[in-house]
Amino acid sequence: MPVLVLSQKNCYILGIESSCDDTAAAVINNGVILSNVVATQKIHEEYGGVVPELASRAHQQNIVPVVHQAIHKANIDKKQLSAIAFTSGPGLMGSLLVGTSFSKSLALGLDIPLIDVNHMQAHILAHFIKAEGQTAPNFPFLALTISGGHTQIVKVTDYFEMEVIGETIDDAVGEAFDKAGKILGLSYPGGPLIDKYAQKGNPERFKFTKPKVKPLDFSFSGLKTAVLYFVEKEVQKNPDFIAENLEDICASLQFTIIDYLMDKLKNAVKQTGIKEIAIGGGVSANSGIRRALTEAEARYGWKTHIPKFEFCTDNAAMIAIVGELKYKNKLFAENNVVAKARLKL
Ligand code: KG4
Ligand code: ZN
Repeated sequence: MPVLVLSQKNCYILGIESSCDDTAAAVINNGVILSNVVATQKIHEEYGGVVPELASRAHQQNIVPVVHQAIHKANIDKKQLSAIAFTSGPGLMGSLLVGTSFSKSLALGLDIPLIDVNHMQAHILAHFIKAEGQTAPNFPFLALTISGGHTQIVKVTDYFEMEVIGETIDDAVGEAFDKAGKILGLSYPGGPLIDKYAQKGNPERFKFTKPKVKPLDFSFSGLKTAVLYFVEKEVQKNPDFIAENLEDICASLQFTIIDYLMDKLKNAVKQTGIKEIAIGGGVSANSGIRRALTEAEARYGWKTHIPKFEFCTDNAAMIAIVGELKYKNKLFAENNVVAKARLKL
């Protein structure tokens, strides 16, 4: 991929995201988000996880109103759009297909270019959205992408030059939060709830062991099992153990996870010599990781970038910014482009 040259051309790009359980659309104009609409599917809460078939069906119901609202809120006419950018992968196939076929039809109907976007690249490039309280990282930087599907450390040398230097060998960190949440009887997704209870708890009350793998890799399946065995054992002694200690359990678990993520970042900084760090993905909404990264600026001399809350969890603003970067470099997709459930960076 050539180094990007960003032209100053004025453009309006519509971004569409449908890789998992959020149907989202956003309009961007020269780096500034004009609208950012997300319809989160509540239907999965009662199942304790995303049900792919239900997700696909909900995307079909949501996509037209969500896109309509995004264009309306941006205060433009759809005829002003310069291109349509959509998530082509990675994600759930049935979900990706809805956004892909909708985007293709709309681009064809409006006779404008179509741009395919890698969801994980978008989580990283969301930092280049021009928004108050958000600073764009300088190349090269390290990106820690932490979501329900991924946990990676990526070395980013240019907009589209990225190398995964560490990743999880089993569960993603978001999955660890959600599965632990399920064990504790919390509704799906457990991540935000564990974060909420953790704020009032004692992080040193219970000890969980940090899994040992290669310096830049992660493992979370053992932690989930450790939580399960610990809770089962305590509940046998006291049936009300979870209710009576929920805040301390959440705080201790969150402390272990954040400490583990920070250990890996420290290893990556040591190995690469890069001290500029950006986080992305749903788990970067977590208050613990946000605090730990902010503290790392003074403690280790890092320059850290934390995205605005609305650009952390799945959203289409991040798809729109990648669309704009590609549009300005004429990196368009053919109309026969296909969705890919597995797509590398
Ligand atoms: O990026 P995302 O919206 O979707 C995926 O691509 O996976 O990430 C969703 C994940 C879920 O596992 C959710 O529990 C987690 O992000 N999450 C959090 C928080 N907010 C969302 N985990 C911990 N603390 C939070 N505040
Ligand atoms: Zn995501």
